[in-house]
Amino acid sequence: MDKIVIDGGRPLTGQVRIGGAKNAALPILIATLVAPGEHRIGNVPDLVDVSSMLSLLGRIGCPSLVHQGHVRLDTSRVSFCEAPYDLVRKMRASVLALGPLLARCGEAHVSLPGGCAIGVRPIDQHLKGLELLGARFELSGGYVHGYVDQLVGARIPLDVPTVTGTENILMATVVAKGESVIENAAREPEIVDLAGFLRGMGAKIEGEGTSTIRVQGVDNLRPSPNTWNVLPDRIEAGTYLVAGAITGGDLTITHVRPDDLRPVLEALRAAGCTLEVNADTVRVRRKGPLQPIDITTEPHPGFPTDMQAQLMALSCFAEGTSTIRETIFENRFMHVPELTRLGADIAIHGNTATVTGVSGLRGATVMATDLRASASLVLAGLAAQGQTEVLRLYHLDRGYERLVEKLSDVGATVARVPDDPRVRMFAPSPDLVAKTAAS
Ligand code: EPU
Repeated sequence: MDKIVIDGGRPLTGQVRIGGAKNAALPILIATLVAPGEHRIGNVPDLVDVSSMLSLLGRIGCPSLVHQGHVRLDTSRVSFCEAPYDLVRKMRASVLALGPLLARCGEAHVSLPGGCAIGVRPIDQHLKGLELLGARFELSGGYVHGYVDQLVGARIPLDVPTVTGTENILMATVVAKGESVIENAAREPEIVDLAGFLRGMGAKIEGEGTSTIRVQGVDNLRPSPNTWNVLPDRIEAGTYLVAGAITGGDLTITHVRPDDLRPVLEALRAAGCTLEVNADTVRVRRKGPLQPIDITTEPHPGFPTDMQAQLMALSCFAEGTSTIRETIFENRFMHVPELTRLGADIAIHGNTATVTGVSGLRGATVMATDLRASASLVLAGLAAQGQTEVLRLYHLDRGYERLVEKLSDVGATVARVPDDPRVRMFAPSPDLVAKTAAS
């Protein structure tokens, strides 16, 4: 498996173009099942999770063509109503097939995703919502088997505002008979994007982006004649802003929607960064020392859990003590022991991390077991003195498009190299790291 080698301590300067949002592209791709025909989707990020979703669609019988972020996907025929274990195991978001398959085929067989590194992650709310629409479920052989004769609109009060749960239910309500009201719905921008895509296919939806979504079911949906461009990835955007801030650089992210970044921008301002926000760009600069921050993760529009690890990496360098509370997932501090290996001073009590800033971190070999934790280690490595090796790149490939290239373009000394235990680099110069990567 490959690893990333970073020679840290260089301020990043320049521009980074942000890609389409992983967590919007995934539901949009599978939502095509509810409207048979050929779909065109643009600004689709080149990520392993996107390939996994297209593999799943291929397995179902829907071929696709991908070229430079544009996907053409043909959902005219569905020959198989199953999301098998080997795909769900690689990508939990495969559970998003449940609602669209029930809507399209009247049955769905989806491998249960199980827990994962960041927590238990049940799908009880997905099942509850779909049951209220008339579906019946059986659990056997590690699969959830769903059946429905006719989806019928209903009032669906969610116990928690789950993101993929809201999406799964929304994709079923658009073709259910009559009106549905999803209460306590998640309000994330990715849900607004999915609703816009569904509306382009003829769905009647109101209230997306608020906690009450109303849907009038329609008999048939058809692919939009227009290409739908996936919204910019607010988490990729936030991660690069932290890269600029943590290295004391001057970085501009482009092709973004600053409104979606509001809580992250507030945290960066509180940390002492200067921000210039324009229509679709944000510039971050930092000259003085970093200040401590106090953040609590919350559903949108609160501070996103997917940026918690990155802000924690930043707070390791602050002059003072930061407090970071994680309220969404029960096990999302796995980056803490690894940041500690780089020299960070972090104490955890329950869901709260207390980070005492240190004068600097020193490079080491680290690895993480989830996507955003891996990103936080890359960020810490960019600001640490010396060489950091981040192992298990599998996670980063799921969520960050061309990470090494984008970081190199703004001045980072970073390379992707095969993690061959027979090859070891001792105090390599940036030149040597670059040559090894190229070989
Ligand atoms: N929950 C339940 N029951 C359910 C569903 C969720 O109790 O049926 C709980 C979860 O255990 C968790 C909370 O509700 O405590 C929120 O989970 P949610 O369902 O909203 O998360 P998700 O839909 O599985 C999406 C993103 C995650 C992101 C979360 C929170 C996608 C594909 N994934 O997951 O993204 O962290 O929302 O914003 O959209 C990532 O990109 O790195 C990532 C993990």
